[in-house]
Amino acid sequence: MKTLVAYSSLTGNTRRVAEAIFASLKGDKAILPISEAGDGAGFERIIIGFWVDKGDANEEALAFIEKLKGKALGVFATLGADPTSEHAKKCLDGVLARLLAKGNEVKASFICRGAIDPVLIERVKAKWGGQAPQARVDSWTEAASHPDEKDFANARAAFAAF
Ligand SMILES: Cc1cc2nc3c(=O)[nH]c(=O)nc-3n(C[C@H](O)[C@H](O)[C@H](O)COP(=O)(O)O)c2cc1C
Repeated sequence: MKTLVAYSSLTGNTRRVAEAIFASLKGDKAILPISEAGDGAGFERIIIGFWVDKGDANEEALAFIEKLKGKALGVFATLGADPTSEHAKKCLDGVLARLLAKGNEVKASFICRGAIDPVLIERVKAKWGGQAPQARVDSWTEAASHPDEKDFANARAAFAAF
């Protein structure tokens, strides 16, 4: 059974988590950006990686997710917010629900923090006239060092039995 890790990544966070998971997988495997993964044909098992874009999976990942039916899947994501937050849970659960509704089996899932693009931070700051609320600034600072080695280890552990 061949396993595909298909990821979407704008600034590299999700790609780095994908590579950590991929390196730990045993057996026949491949890793591809989602843009090159077609509809996942030829792979019985697929691990999908997306980044959170405005409370959902990013558009390119959603388009891929829509194509999957009857597969054995793993799902992981990176986001700027606290991965234990309601926001994070909602983002991941929303994707899982869509996959399950199409007869896929989701065998493992994982979510962790990823540094936020400085361009986005500047854009958001500008909305507050340059001075964002301290809680926001703290959250950006916390995200800036992720994904880190602990995130990679947790990601590998989440898919250890995949
Ligand atoms: C346009 C845009 C929208 C985002 N929306 C959210 C969001 O709703 N919630 C969140 O926690 N992080 C959000 N983020 C942060 C990214 O999900 C996070 O930085 C992620 O790790 C980026 O992954 P990548 O490096 O693989 O592209 C957003 C980032 C961008 C650029």
